[in-house]
Amino acid sequence: MQKREQLYAGKAKSVYLTDDPDYLILEFRDDTSAFDGEKVEKLARKGMVNNHFNAFIMGKLAAAGIPVHVERLLSDTQSVVKKLDMLPVECVVRNIAAGSLCRRLGVKEGIDLTPPTFELFLKNDALHDPMVNESLAETFGWATAAQLTRMKELTYQVNAVLKKLFADAGMLLVDYKLEFGVFKGEIVLGDEFSPDGCRLWDAETREKLDKDRFRQGLGGVVEAYEAVADRLGIKLPK
Ligand code: ADP
Ligand code: TMP
Ligand code: ASP
Repeated sequence: MQKREQLYAGKAKSVYLTDDPDYLILEFRDDTSAFDGEKVEKLARKGMVNNHFNAFIMGKLAAAGIPVHVERLLSDTQSVVKKLDMLPVECVVRNIAAGSLCRRLGVKEGIDLTPPTFELFLKNDALHDPMVNESLAETFGWATAAQLTRMKELTYQVNAVLKKLFADAGMLLVDYKLEFGVFKGEIVLGDEFSPDGCRLWDAETREKLDKDRFRQGLGGVVEAYEAVADRLGIKLPK
């Protein structure tokens, strides 16, 4: 597959066209951002870790029957993915209260959420990714009612698969964000699943093993991501 011109450079990944109009190359960079781009740093090895992490998780989801965009790893920092028409809403499921839920509703971090919650956010850094709902998404044309139903269904399916995967490796999947797009009329999971876009805690100590280490200045960010990868059995290059 031939890499062509850059289509887009996001906060953490770059997207390249290829000689096949149905496929893109997604490049995971070391850039790490939080608070909608307000805090940005380069963290050595993060791009490589997240690329391998994402390919592993997407492989598990595909095996469970969830349509995903990742085709294959191309290099340590690049993957070949289906070219999706991305929908500008982010789907968030929470199993345990943390982050913006605690700030917005005044609930205590760490309480169990039963049943797990589902939230939609508009992907818009300038507006700080405001929370929206299905009515707003339909009215403004961000997604159709049928697309929203399918995204919600797939987001919960991902929860069933990944809660168990992380639990079996001694971790709690606290919450996560998914982005979907359309490929030949079908809703497909795009973007990435990595510790950059979810919260993971050690099941015993509740130590944070995800991007909250960066957001909260706790240090050891990539070391924590690598420890999670190791527990899942992901083989990373030295
Ligand atoms: P951001 O845009 O939030 O800064 P990234 O740095 O992660 O995010 O950039 C990656 C961009 O590529 C995102 O805008 C994401 O929606 C988009 N994207 C992810 N997967 C695909 C795909 N399979 N097809 C098209 N675009 C994608
Ligand atoms: P929040 O607590 O900040 O709303 O985030 C919930 C989860 O979703 C957390 O794991 C981080 C992730 N997330 C992103 O990665 N990017 C986003 O733009 C949003 C809104 C959430
Ligand atoms: N919105 C995401 C976060 O806060 C990513 C970003 O801000 O760059 O982690």
